[in-house]
Amino acid sequence: MSAAVGRRHTRLEAYDKVTGGARYATEYPADGVAYAWLVPATVARGTVAEVDTTAALAVDGVLAVLHHGNAPRLVPGVDAEVFRLQDPSVYFRGQAVALVVAQTSEAAREAAGLVRLRYDVQPHHTRLTAGDDGFYRPDHVNPSYPTDVLTGDFDAGFDAAEVRLDLTYRTPSYHNSPMEPHASTAQWRDGCLVVHDSSQGSGPVRDVLARLFGLPPESVRTISRHVGGGFGGKLYVKVQTVLAAMAARHVDRPVRLALTRQQTFGPVGYRTPTIQRIRLGADRDGRLVAVGHDALSQTSQMTEFAEQTAVYTRHMYAAPHLRSTHRVIRLDVPTPFWMRAPGFTPGSFALESALDELASACRVDPVELRLRNDTPVDPASGQPFTSRNLAACLTDGARRFDWAPRDPTPRARRSGRWLFGTGVAGCTYPARVRPAAASAAALPDGSFEVRINATDIGTGARTALWQVAVDALGAPPDRVRIEVGDSALPAADVAGGSMGLTSWSWAVLRACERLCDRLGAASGPVPAGGLLVEVSTEEEVAAQPTLPRFAYGAQFAEVRVDQETGEVRVLRQLGVFAVGRVVNPSTLRSQLIGGMTMGLSMALHEVGAFDHRYGTWANHDLAGYHVSSNADVPAVRAYWVPDADVAVNPLGIKGAGEIGMVGAAAAIANAVHHATGVRVRELPVTLDKLLVG
Ligand code: MOS
Repeated sequence: MSAAVGRRHTRLEAYDKVTGGARYATEYPADGVAYAWLVPATVARGTVAEVDTTAALAVDGVLAVLHHGNAPRLVPGVDAEVFRLQDPSVYFRGQAVALVVAQTSEAAREAAGLVRLRYDVQPHHTRLTAGDDGFYRPDHVNPSYPTDVLTGDFDAGFDAAEVRLDLTYRTPSYHNSPMEPHASTAQWRDGCLVVHDSSQGSGPVRDVLARLFGLPPESVRTISRHVGGGFGGKLYVKVQTVLAAMAARHVDRPVRLALTRQQTFGPVGYRTPTIQRIRLGADRDGRLVAVGHDALSQTSQMTEFAEQTAVYTRHMYAAPHLRSTHRVIRLDVPTPFWMRAPGFTPGSFALESALDELASACRVDPVELRLRNDTPVDPASGQPFTSRNLAACLTDGARRFDWAPRDPTPRARRSGRWLFGTGVAGCTYPARVRPAAASAAALPDGSFEVRINATDIGTGARTALWQVAVDALGAPPDRVRIEVGDSALPAADVAGGSMGLTSWSWAVLRACERLCDRLGAASGPVPAGGLLVEVSTEEEVAAQPTLPRFAYGAQFAEVRVDQETGEVRVLRQLGVFAVGRVVNPSTLRSQLIGGMTMGLSMALHEVGAFDHRYGTWANHDLAGYHVSSNADVPAVRAYWVPDADVAVNPLGIKGAGEIGMVGAAAAIANAVHHATGVRVRELPVTLDKLLVG
């Protein structure tokens, strides 16, 4: 029986966080620290023809203005996204083209506004449009999925189907907007670079910095002890880290660089807009015969980023004839990047909306329709899933939500001006695992210390890993300490892809087991210097068979819509998930309801409104880019079904960081259709789209 795993536990760092003791990237003291301020390009495409720094340098306290003419050189060919101030090219509006360094943040900001830049401007193309000649077939989609998967004979299957739907869904661009913006403090000491960095994984950041600056990895240390959210936007090295390091070298002082909220809208990534064609062929009972999902998305001129939008459809419902394709176009825009449940979020909106349309067409209950199309075998690979439990989530969710009495007729339930509706969607996210290393030490005072370069971006990962260690060591909880968030610790991969806890817990478990073995074999007390073991899961992870491994879930929503104004209010959201073994119910719940709330935000509020004349977003702050707040979510409940999958890792954990968002927007849009009879196929669901006829 485990003492810690499976029990609610407050975050270990909770006290530090609420008292301000927990330091974030730009809060570490540094002697003689200087401040940097970024100067963004004001054109979408062209070259910097002239830089005049006279007025900027005249500002009291300014130490330097860096630009392509004078900045420290980086090693080319490492990462085009952060290869800034090296040449005069402008690939997108907002790209960093200069950097002011000053004794105060205020002086840096003032001077940044005085840097005069003249551009040779070229016409830009920023609009994602179906039918554009520029679409191409990428070699793979993120992170390494096949671009197209075709099983059976889609065209023949679709043509022969009794019921056929051919529908197009659109999602706009979205911005990650973590509470802590992208921020870094960089300093050089004796040729070594030390960076306090807001990232989702300091190990990979360290490696890229070392290559960019031509250093051995051991000459770079990156520390991310506390991170104020990331949502994908802080995976891998970002421009502020590199610029801070360049500036610190140039002025020979520590340098802080925090992006403003506005500067995070685009230059550090965003979710690509998508255009998705869904074709469903089914028999009259709603059993799918042919499923087609063709996804279009954009990337930049600098880097290919191919969102895996249609991958969702490959692993969700049984279909003898399956077609899923991706095409990408290069535009004069910032490079899209990872954002919570990449691909699966927009992809699930399209497929789960289309299934709702199929349910209506076939007059089958939408929960029942999904159950009818459940499968123990992965439609894309033909292999059995290691675990599934989608049906359990749907059934349990329907019971908890009180789905059964539902009258499927749109506009059937009303009270005064308000129309009421309910909707459902399935969801899935891959259960991934990566190798990691961890160390465990027994100290002479009877305490234990576990170390791993995991990153806690606010999820509670530190606490969950500590729970795993407490059980594996069989030690009193107050005798076990854990340290994370520093590249000097045993190497581990990023907090991303919902694979953090899955990967890290495995290494922590093995390190603690090994230490217990050593302690058991030794006679006498722990030696004065302690007893330390370090392990890696590299071989164990590599030896895993490649099987289809996924978390699943079911999302339910109830809305009311004002039939005169079109105002939409979500009354409740309820999700039931199969996410493997639960380590900490309270932080798991936070991950799930956080994701569901982001799904609500996507359904009703979030839209990157792109102004194609200027080649940038018209809304680029949290005043113009609306996200859900507490008042938008009166009741959001997350539950889970018993589900432990040891084919993923020895603890049975499947990962739960992202699945809460998948399908949530579709459940709400489906509820809006049930309430109003209006089908919105282009997010967000705004009132103008509901006031038709
Ligand atoms: Mo998640 S988008 O992999 O941080």
